[in-house]
Amino acid sequence: MTAVATDNAVREIVRGLRQDEKMISPKFFYDERGSQLFDEITALPEYYPTETELAIMQDNIDEIAALIGPQASLIEYGSGSSLKTRVLLQHLIDQAVYVPVDISEDHLLASAAEIREEFPGLEVLPVVADFTKHFNLPNPAVMPRRNIVYFPGSTIGNFPKDEACELLRVMYDEAGEDGAMLIGVDLQKDPAVIEAAYNDAAGVTAEFNLNMLRHLNREFGSDFDLDSWQHDAQYNENKGRVEIRLMNDSRQTVNIGDATVVVEEGEGILTEYSHKYTLEGFAEMAAGAGFKTARVWTDPDELFSVHYCTR
Ligand code: SAH
Ligand code: AVI
Repeated sequence: MTAVATDNAVREIVRGLRQDEKMISPKFFYDERGSQLFDEITALPEYYPTETELAIMQDNIDEIAALIGPQASLIEYGSGSSLKTRVLLQHLIDQAVYVPVDISEDHLLASAAEIREEFPGLEVLPVVADFTKHFNLPNPAVMPRRNIVYFPGSTIGNFPKDEACELLRVMYDEAGEDGAMLIGVDLQKDPAVIEAAYNDAAGVTAEFNLNMLRHLNREFGSDFDLDSWQHDAQYNENKGRVEIRLMNDSRQTVNIGDATVVVEEGEGILTEYSHKYTLEGFAEMAAGAGFKTARVWTDPDELFSVHYCTR
């Protein structure tokens, strides 16, 4: 990270810690260890989203590939380990270019190198960026016929609804006139199923949550006392979202940059929302950004959904 980027990140973190309810953006989960822990989460028996979305992709891949068509540029937001992308890449015809975009630099570059090895004819152009801010897309060697913005994993759910809509608007522009968006969206369901997915018995999600403070201490020089924080994840049924916090069990003064922040005993820091949508609710939000929902696929139990949206 450049010195300017570090200063900006510290300012953003301090701003969040000075709000009435302290918060830190979930993008700060993802250092190398955070990306590894997320991969571990995706393999947990309680964490249904990944295996369900993967099955939806596998079951409908011929139709999805036909809708995307040949010579597409696949621009993936928050690509992580590009797990579901492999299903797409195996079936797309005469694929022009794959552009994975992620904030977790080492993990992104390692995943991009693996994809290059697995798909030798494919141009792979990784972009290390915070996709909530403006970033430049690379120029592919061959002009693609159309842009497909791919946003799997229900990462859209990690944004408050106004920010999610704003991000969809950016994707609408990114897709361009003939483009489309393929997006994974987690659905509302039995709260017990959702709460179990964010409170796994092995404690991996707790470790993922706590790793955020370790990341901040190392990368941004803060001095959170790592021993006094507990993972807390609860489904707020009224708001249709999981609210994930770190709860502090002893008063501490935290220094970060030039700022000092006091965290009281029993006070929490909101580290993530994970919104769960209805099919209609998500289509309405996509429409607010200009998209038409052309096709939706779900699993038989309607746990998860994949939406193909055109302009
Ligand atoms: N798409 C993958 C990974 C989802 S985890 C899947 O479906 O399994 C969320 C991913 O988004 C992580 O890899 C994280 O590093 C990335 N990410 C989160 N916030 C980001 C941001 N603001 N800018 C860029 N990448 C971000
Ligand atoms: C990346 N994102 C969609 C995950 C989710 O389910 O909201 C992150 C996560 N947080 C805890 N477990 C998984």
